[in-house]
Amino acid sequence: MVKNTPQQTENETTVRATAPSNIALIKYWGKSDATLNWPANDSISMTLSRARTITSATIRSNAPAENCHRLAFRTSATKSIAVRDQEKTTRFLEWLRREIKPYGSAEGALDLLTYNSFPSSCGIASSASGFAALTVAATAAWTGTKNFAELHDLGISRAHLSDWARRGSGSACRSIHGGFVQWERGHSPNTQKINPVFSVEHWPLTDLIVLIDRGAKSTSSTEGHARAFTSPLMNVRLSGLGERLKNCAQAIEGRDLERLGTIIEAESIEMHAVMMTSNPRTDYFGSATINFISWLRKSRAKGEFSAWFTLDAGPNPHVLCRPEDAAAVKATILQNFPSSSVIHDQTGSGAILESEQNFGEFIPGGFDGH
Ligand code: DP6
Repeated sequence: MVKNTPQQTENETTVRATAPSNIALIKYWGKSDATLNWPANDSISMTLSRARTITSATIRSNAPAENCHRLAFRTSATKSIAVRDQEKTTRFLEWLRREIKPYGSAEGALDLLTYNSFPSSCGIASSASGFAALTVAATAAWTGTKNFAELHDLGISRAHLSDWARRGSGSACRSIHGGFVQWERGHSPNTQKINPVFSVEHWPLTDLIVLIDRGAKSTSSTEGHARAFTSPLMNVRLSGLGERLKNCAQAIEGRDLERLGTIIEAESIEMHAVMMTSNPRTDYFGSATINFISWLRKSRAKGEFSAWFTLDAGPNPHVLCRPEDAAAVKATILQNFPSSSVIHDQTGSGAILESEQNFGEFIPGGFDGH
């Protein structure tokens, strides 16, 4: 079992953090301020459990601090590659170091090793779990802490971590917390709030992530956000979102899956309508996704199961259903789409930085199919 007790050698201390991905039910799409990741609208998400990023951070205390963080993405037990977006990550780390300074030494360069519990080529957005895990690992390493209680004693709460993770990638702020999380834009960048609004225990749901298309996405979410306001549909979308979010929160509160399902399908299709009518336009999915969602809706209408889909900035649908129906829904999906794979995920409890955690178990947990 791999433990998270900081491992010390003469000049090095290692801490390990893990953060889950999250699936937005009401989407963050479009920014009012791109540098600060101030969203154009409020969003609400469900934190996942098995689709996670695991990041270890080691301070090289005898290394010069400037510009020498080393980042590697582990693709297997033995193989590491350089992280794709080194520059963005390094810029974020230097910004984070300045935020952390009042709470701890924040001295020394970091060696970061990061890997995902889900297959890296499957097109699931990893920036939410990636920046959430990076924020927690770097904060713990720079403040010499090894769990959330110690961070709390220094005056660093989950709200701080969430706010910091947001600067790396907007959706990462929701992955720090567990259950259902609401990100409110507030009236200015400084009045944003990220709140866990319903706990995991309130309503555990299953999310079957169906991998029907593993191609890498051609337009990053960050680029897509920047195009959102070129769509003639964007302002129409924003004018109705407050009401939809209220209805979504009520459906979660009342554990009304049919109501929630109807809302999330309309919401994800509307976001993709904005994407497809932006200039230049972005098509995040093709015929495989269209066939899948039309099959899902027909099967549901025939009474074969109770399951609803949502889509992020990619082609792979997330299918939400009750945990007791999950095995049957998954079997039907794999039977009808034999070349797909399913990640069997569920509502989860947010970022972890704890000594008892066995990080190894997440690889490749909950992954069924081909
Ligand atoms: C479609 O958080 O990836 O998943 O802030 O530029 O890093 P940046 O964008 P990102 O956008 C996520 C968009 C989405 C919807 C959502 O998660 O709310």
